[in-house]
Formats: sequence, structure tokens, C-alpha cells
Amino acid sequence: MKYWIETYGCQMNKAESDALELELIGSGWKEAGIPENASIVIINTCSVRKTAEDRIWGRIGYFKKIKKDNPEQKLIITGCMAERLGDKLKEKKSPVDEVFGTFDKDKIADFIGKKNIIKSYENGIYKFKKNHSGKDAFKSFIPIMNGCNNFCSYCIVPYVRGREISRDPADIYKELDSLEKYNTKEITLLGQNVNSYTYIENGRLIDFPDLISEISSRVKSIEWIRFLTSHPKDLSHKLIETIASSENICRHIHLPIQSGSDNILSLMNRRYNTKDYLKLVENIKNMIPGVSITTDIITGFPGESEDDFKMTCEMMEKVRFSDAFTYYYNPRVGTEAFNYPNEIEMEVKLDRLSRIIELQKKISLELRKNKLGQTVKVLAEDYSKNSKNELLGRTESDEMIVFAGKHDKIGKFNNVKIISLKGNTFIGELIE
Ligand code: SAM
Ligand code: SF4
Ligand code: F3S
Repeated sequence: MKYWIETYGCQMNKAESDALELELIGSGWKEAGIPENASIVIINTCSVRKTAEDRIWGRIGYFKKIKKDNPEQKLIITGCMAERLGDKLKEKKSPVDEVFGTFDKDKIADFIGKKNIIKSYENGIYKFKKNHSGKDAFKSFIPIMNGCNNFCSYCIVPYVRGREISRDPADIYKELDSLEKYNTKEITLLGQNVNSYTYIENGRLIDFPDLISEISSRVKSIEWIRFLTSHPKDLSHKLIETIASSENICRHIHLPIQSGSDNILSLMNRRYNTKDYLKLVENIKNMIPGVSITTDIITGFPGESEDDFKMTCEMMEKVRFSDAFTYYYNPRVGTEAFNYPNEIEMEVKLDRLSRIIELQKKISLELRKNKLGQTVKVLAEDYSKNSKNELLGRTESDEMIVFAGKHDKIGKFNNVKIISLKGNTFIGELIE
């Protein structure tokens, strides 16, 4: 039996698809190679923005065509969009056979007749699954918590993923130990808000700094530890100290700011203001020299005036993020902001979005120019887009770098001298 899995959305979804794939392979299934050959297609979906959902609708349309030639093929939709829309995905001559929301993923097992797989929930409690399949295992993503309690007013995640649940540290350590045999070089600890990781063990509370510090001292082949995502209101002094004092925790923090206006931050229910954010960034930069900070920004949130928007631009100049994921606001049914007045016109949202993209490009370029001539440690991840004689890698700060090199360097650390820049990507030279 052959399967085909497609995944949309965040790293958490990707990690879960990897876990699912691992279990399918363990139950004797084979990867189809091309979607046409699969007897079962699973689309693991995202609902965070309408644009994400539109893409998935496009894929459903594509599979409808494939099913004309292969009517036996089963199409399963799972993940956050499945949770949000449920059986609506099966309406109107849809090719979708089954829909399993985030809380029902274990039912996929019954559907495909393998009862021993994909138990994502047990007695209503989220179950974390091993997510490394050996493929690209030099870089592994490890979910340490699931769900979110923050209810930012624009965000669907708390509704489709449920409340926060932290993973048993013993289970995390077991997964880490088993990674050593794959010679893993980099791990990323995942959670919608990793800073609020909390686990009570024998009456002792283990918080995120405790967990990451224990991981830092346990790992052997793993030289880079990353974590995603940090909510600014929960990033503690203790965590900054832990990063500063641990050589194998990357000096890179993804710290979504969302807006630079206190009024908008309050409407977003982010529970910090720009003063708090700047103070936090100052502490991070003072205590972790050379740290890079990246962010997420939303433009055109309801009520965002031109002045509010300019404040976001000013914050970007003050903090000098090395990169930013930028989005225009998408109203999501069921969230608090969906009913907010003063919606911003699409034209304005898009205009502001293109202005912050330009501003971020300028800042990223300026920061990267300061690094020309330096020799940096690079984890080579793949061939470059253009040539099999060039490799694409990442620096500790999570910047992309292309350099001449052969296949044997992939999955390994290399010393690379930064020579020039092409857009925001460094061009480097391998130092043997
Ligand atoms: N938990 C993370 C945090 O609080 O920063 C982020 C999770 S979310 C999957 C990733 C990003 O999507 C958010 O940081 C936000 O910028 C963006 N986002 C979420 N909901 C959105 C919406 N309704 N419209 C536009 N962007 C949105
Ligand atoms: Fe969404 Fe906010 Fe939770 Fe992030 S912290 S997942 S933006 S509700
Ligand atoms: Fe999307 Fe769900 Fe992740 S909505 S961003 S796949 S938690």
C-alpha cells in the first residue's frame, strides 16, 4: 500500500507529519513517489490565514482530477483546517473521503485499518510522537508542547489546537538519546509558545530554562539547539542567562512583535507594550553578544492608523531585526478580532505590507553587510537551487549561505568565509 502526505503550516505540523510517516512506514506502507500512485493521500492542513486555506482548496481541486483516473484513491484531510471546517470539506461534490480534525487524528488509524498507529490523543490528552524518520535527520524538530492559552485576538491557533500541554521531559530525553545514532547536528524544540513550557515532576516544577539547560548538557552529536516560538511576555531573565551560558544553544531568538503600536498591541491582546519589548531586547542584546533577533509582523489590523503603522516601522529601526515574517491581517471566523470595527481596506493592508517588506530588506542587508569577511560555522542542508556543485546552508543566526561544495558536506558543519551578498543570502567560500 502506498501513501502520499502533503503538509502545510508551521514546523509543528511538519513534525507531526513526519511522525505519521514514520508510523505508516513501520506498518508496512511505502511512499508513493508521485501522488497519482498513492492509494491514500493525507493532507495535513493549516488554518492560520485564508491564504493558507486557499492553497489547500487548490490542492483538493487537483486531487479531484487525479481521482477521476484513480477512483480507488482515498483523500484524507487532517490538521487545523480540518478542525476548523470539519465535514464542510466533504460538501459539494468534494473528492474528500474523510476529515479528521486535530483532536481526531488517531481515527486515521481506524480508517486505514491499522489500529496501532497515530494515537495523537489518549483519554483526551495530546500524545507526542517520535518525529524523526532518519531522513534529513541531521536536523530534527522536537515538539515539547502543544496548544496555546494566549488567545491573541486575531489568532485561530488556540481554537484549533486546544489548550497548552507540555511533554514529559523523560520522553523528550529518550527521543534525544535516540537521535544520537542518526548523528543529528541540530534540534529545534517546538511549541506555539515554548516559554510557557511547564511540567511538574515529583512535586518539582520544570520550566523552559530548566528543560533547555538539561538538554544542553545531555546532548553529544547535537551542537546547535534552537527553539520556536517565544512569546515576549514569557521570555524570562532565566532563559536569557541560560542561552548566554550554554555554548550549544544558538544565539538566535524568534520573538514576534506583531505591531509597534501600544494601542494595536492591546487590541491584539498581546499583553506587552513597546516599552516592555524594547527593555527585553536590550537585556537580550546585552547578555548575549552577537545575538540575532527575528520577528513576525502583521499589517492592517483593525483600527491600525497610518501613525500606528509608522510606529511599527520605528520599532523595526530600533530593534533592527535580522529577518521578519510579514503578513497582512486575515480575519478568522471565531476569533475575537473578527468582530472588531474599523477594518482596514485590502489596498492599505497590502501597501503597508510592501512598505515593511522593503524596510526589513534594507535592515537585513545592513546587518549582513557587517558580517562580510567573517568566517562562520555553517550547517550545510542541501544543494543550492542553481547547481549541484553549490551547497545551501545556514549560520547559527539562521541566515542562508551558498558556497561551492560537494554532497559529502551536507548534514555537516563547515567553516565558511562570507565573501559577498546576493539579496539576503550570503555567498561564501569553504575553508577546508
Ligand atoms: N505562537 C507564535 C507567536 O505567538 O508568535 C506564532 C504562531 S502563528 C502560527 C505565526 C504567525 O502568524 C503569528 O506570529 C502572526 O504574525 C501570524 N498570524 C496569526 N494569525 C494571523 C492572522 N489572522 N492574520 C495574519 N497573520 C496572522
Ligand atoms: Fe496565536 Fe498568540 Fe498563541 Fe501565537 S501566542 S499561537 S499568535 S494565540
Ligand atoms: Fe497553522 Fe495550525 Fe500551525 S493553524 S500555523 S498548522 S498550529
